[in-house]
This record gives sequence, structure tokens and C-alpha cells, in this order.
Amino acid sequence: MSKDACLKRTHTCGQLRLEDNGRAVRLCGWVRSYRDHGGVVFIDLRDRKGITQVVFDSESVGSEMYNLAGTLRDEWVISVAGKVRPRGEGKENPKLATGQIEVDCNDLVVLNRSDAVPFSPDEYHATSEENRLKYRYIDLRRQEMSGALMLRHKIVQAMRGVLDGDEFIEVETPFLCKSTPEGARDFLVPSRMHRGTFYALPQSPQLYKQILMVGGLEKYYQVARCFRDEDLRADRQPEFTQLDLELSFCDEQDVMNVTNRVLRAVCKVAGKYFPDEVPVMTYQEAVARFGSDKPDLRFGMEIKDISDIAAKTDFRVFSSAVENGGAVQCIVVPGGARMTRKETDALADWAKTFGAGGMPITKVAGGKLETGVAKFLEKIATQLIERLDAKDGDLICFAADRLKVVQRVLGELRCKLARDLGMIDPNDFKWLWVVEFPLFEYDEDAGRYVAMHHPFTCPNIDDWEKYRDSDPLKIRSRAYDIVCNGMEMGGGSIRIHRTDLQKDVFTFMGIKDEEASLKFGFLLDALRFGAPPHGGLALGLDRVVMTMIGAPSIRDVIAFPKTQKGTCPMTEAPSFVDEKQLEELFISVVEEDGDVQKSSVSDLDLPPDLDDIM
Ligand code: AMO
Repeated sequence: MSKDACLKRTHTCGQLRLEDNGRAVRLCGWVRSYRDHGGVVFIDLRDRKGITQVVFDSESVGSEMYNLAGTLRDEWVISVAGKVRPRGEGKENPKLATGQIEVDCNDLVVLNRSDAVPFSPDEYHATSEENRLKYRYIDLRRQEMSGALMLRHKIVQAMRGVLDGDEFIEVETPFLCKSTPEGARDFLVPSRMHRGTFYALPQSPQLYKQILMVGGLEKYYQVARCFRDEDLRADRQPEFTQLDLELSFCDEQDVMNVTNRVLRAVCKVAGKYFPDEVPVMTYQEAVARFGSDKPDLRFGMEIKDISDIAAKTDFRVFSSAVENGGAVQCIVVPGGARMTRKETDALADWAKTFGAGGMPITKVAGGKLETGVAKFLEKIATQLIERLDAKDGDLICFAADRLKVVQRVLGELRCKLARDLGMIDPNDFKWLWVVEFPLFEYDEDAGRYVAMHHPFTCPNIDDWEKYRDSDPLKIRSRAYDIVCNGMEMGGGSIRIHRTDLQKDVFTFMGIKDEEASLKFGFLLDALRFGAPPHGGLALGLDRVVMTMIGAPSIRDVIAFPKTQKGTCPMTEAPSFVDEKQLEELFISVVEEDGDVQKSSVSDLDLPPDLDDIM
């Protein structure tokens, strides 16, 4: 046998079945576990496709090989050869795809040993996520992780298949870009060759893809890495991947149609439901009924406005909210009356974190209101129960405040209660297009209007003409989002393709001509030279995969994710750098007290803060 012949596997560890009885095979993999039953050593051998039981019988294998088998330990890498045989009655393992067979070994080669591992892949729950990220190569050996990455790969192939079939072409756009801060904060990269200047890593390929349309490419896509220096959450990473696409001579429906085709193919690969027709809802309706622009439609508990009834009570919390131009709204929680006093009291504190004053509640019993704020609502109880169609055993939760606060808190509440009260069927997939987003929102801190999607989004032209001087918040944009189970999977818009309109929109947002040409001059230039009408969208690939496998965290579908504080426990990035590197870049680091910090090699030894995973 040549030196490397033991590397030539005949099968994977997930492949062999009873039909292979008697077949001579060679497998390679990692020792998942070993058991020495005195005279017989059993090994569970694992590769990325599965687990196969291999057996070394002292009587048939010879003492040298048997003794070697006895030295094997967890996570050693080995190659074995032998014959497939049935495990025999009562010895099968129904949990394994290969559970009816085992390999009776006649050869063993130890390809590599392993130190005692910091945690076993099978017992990953027993270790912290921090440790799993530090030793990611061990974590990746567990089937959930490799399975997630394999599904991610198949999903990307399916996406590419649909777009390639539709004659989209994949074009790569630069990572070293011009900083165009509108949206999240940029990650900056200092230039060595041009002292004092910086590149920015792309938050998305937005402007490049628009320029590709001006360049006549007509149909573009890219599996694109994006970088945003923003606060992280369970569904956000500082670097993430988009399926980014753009097309020319299209309207909203064209972009939505191609996205539906992509998502249908993705769901097919993942074995999940995708409807023939995806429902469409306006932003206004979504926010009014569900308090969110990404409503979760897997459960009811829609928000009901009762401001007109509430205005008539002596209950000041309600009547004054209405008098002050706010609203009183509520949700009815079916069967929620079983919640304890402690549980409903806790809602008030929870509501405060969303800016509400508290959370008045009451319960329905015997056709009447009982407990909580019931005594203040006697006058309106009958009308309220009738309006809300509330039943005995229901809980009613109210919010009385500015409309925005009311919608936000009730929107969050319906999701929280649906989770807490087990109302969500994990096999349910509710897809939804949300359309007609407002063009602007008002940024109180900046004291100006800012784009809700991004400043290149085309307004509804009639609204723009009608409301720009009187009521800018009423201007609808031509933006759309695709939502699944309460998560924004992707978003896009029809773009502005005329320089004059783009300039007007910049001016409206307080971006002066000079500033616009400094930041976005290249786009404005390009629009001058025959830009076709165009539009597009980007799907968050990580979120799509996360939803397909029902993972609670985006980190579960990324090979090497960052922690909640943007660090990588494995490589210890970000790290201090050598002073010489800083000098070459003409950079010095100023400490909080104003001292200029000289980076030194010993700084390189400092570990990043590991205590930062949510
Ligand atoms: P947007 O900013 O809405 O649009 O991003 C599109 C999609 O990308 C995903 N996403 C993220 N995923 C993980 N971590 C993050 N930090 C993160 N931020 C966004 C979401 C989101 O729906 N250029 C436009 C698209 C366009 O107009 O064509 C854009 O980037 O799933």
C-alpha cells in the first residue's frame, strides 16, 4: 500500500447501510468516542456526513492492531479498513442513519493525535459560547454546525441557479471604497500611500450596483460581504453577507417577482414552505395592525385602537393621552387571564424599556372586566368588550401615550407574549412583502429629515410633488421589504435615476450641493450620462439561513462570527498593532486621557475582552 493509500476513502461515515453487508470499505474521520469491552474495542467514527461504528476484535485483528486501537482517544484522526456487517438483533442504534451496521476492522492508521479537547463537540451545551468561538474548529465538527454550513452552501447554489437562469451576471465590487456615511458607521481602512486618507469597507454594494446599471449591465447580482460598525443583536453581525441584486427597466413588481423565485428555490432546498402568492401589505397597515414594519403573522393579537372610547373615561391615564394628541390602543391576549399577578406586573417594567409609562391590564371574566384597571373602566367596559370581541379568560393589555410609543410597545408585546405563552408553531412560515415605506423619517438628534431606506430611493412622484413642502412624512417611497416570521429578510427599492431629482432629495435632507458632490459626486456624475430606470434588493443571507434552520442566533450559521462586542475569541481580533505599522500609516492612538499611546509589541499579547457574548 502506498504511503497515502490509507487516505483514499471508499465511503463517508454517513453512507453505509445493511445493503452494504460484506463490502470491503475504508473510512477516515475523527474518533467521536471509544469503548473497550475487553477483547473488543468499539469506536464511533465521525466525518462531516455522519457517524459509523467501527470494531476491533482482538481475535480477528491481531494483537498489534488491537493494542493500537486501545490507545485511541477522542478526536484523534484515523483511517480504518474492514468489512461491513450487520450489528445484529438488539444492537442497532435507530438514532444513527448507519445504526444497523458496523465495520469489522482489519486495518488502522493513526493519521494524527489530538490533545485532550477543551470540550467535546457533542457536549457543546456544557461550555460557553465564548469557548465554542475560541475553539471554533472543534465546534464546527458537530453535526448541527457542519449541517448549517452545508445548507448555507446549498442555499447559495440555489440562489445562483435561479439568477443565472434569469441571465443575471455575478459581478464583484470593491472592498476598499469611499466613505459615504449615510446609515450605519463605516469601518475605515487607512491608506499608506495617501497620507491621512481612508478607505471605507462597504456597508453594501449599493452605489456600485447602481453604477453597473448605468454601465449597461442590466441584471447584476453578487453574494456580497458587507461591513457595518453598529450595535450588534441576535440577528446582526458587523460583517455579514447579502445576496445583492439590481436590474434595469423594472418596477417594484419585477424585483419582487425575481426575489420570490429565489426564495421559493431556497425554501425548496431547505424543505420549507413558500406560498404561491406572497401577501403584500403597506407599511401604514403593518404598523397600525401590528406595531411593526416587519410583522410576525404566525399569531393574531392585532392592535386595536380604542382612543375614541378611552377619551370618554375619567381614567386620566387614558383620557389625557387622547387630549394630548396621543392614542390609547390595546391587544387582547387569548387565554391570557391565566397569567399571574407577578407576571402581569412584570409587563409594566418591561414596557418602560420601550418608553411607555407602564402597562395597564385587565382580565375578562363572566362577560365583565376584572382586576387591574377594571375599576376605572366601568363606564366603558361593555362597549370595550364588544369592540374588542373579548372572551372570558382573555387578558387585555393597554398602552396610552404618543402614537409611536403605543405602537412600538404593543408591537413588541404581541411578539413577547406569543413567545412566552407558546403560541408560535415552529413549522409555520409566514412570508410578507411590506411596501410603500415612508421616504423620510425625522431624526430628532440631527434635527433634519433622513432617508428611511437610503437616500437613493425613489419617492412616489405624486406624493413628492404634493407633500414635500407641506407634510414630508406623508411622502411614500418606492421601497419594499420581504419579511418572514417577524424578521426582515431583505429590502430594496426602485432608485432615483435622474440627477435633478437626486439633488433635490439631497437638498431636502439638508445635504448641501457641495457636500453631496464631495460624498456622492461619482453617483451624481454617473446619473448625468444616461442612467436607465433601475431598482433592486438585497437579501440578508445569514438571516435567510438562520430562518430556514430555526437557529436562535445569526452566529449559528456563520463559520467564524464575531461576538456581541465585535471580537473574535479565536484570533483575538481586533488587536493592537506594532508601532511600526502605525507609523507607516501616519497614525497615533490617543488614549482617553488625551495622551498619545505608543503601541508596543507587548500590547499584542493583550487578549480582547472575552466576557462579551450575550
Ligand atoms: P439593507 O440595509 O436593508 O439594504 O440590508 C439588506 C438586508 O441585509 C440584512 N442585514 C444584516 N444582516 C446581518 N447583520 C447586519 N448587521 C445586517 N444589516 C442588514 C437584512 C437586510 O434586510 N443596499 C440596500 C439594499 C438595496 O436597496 O438593494 C441594503 O443594504 O436582512
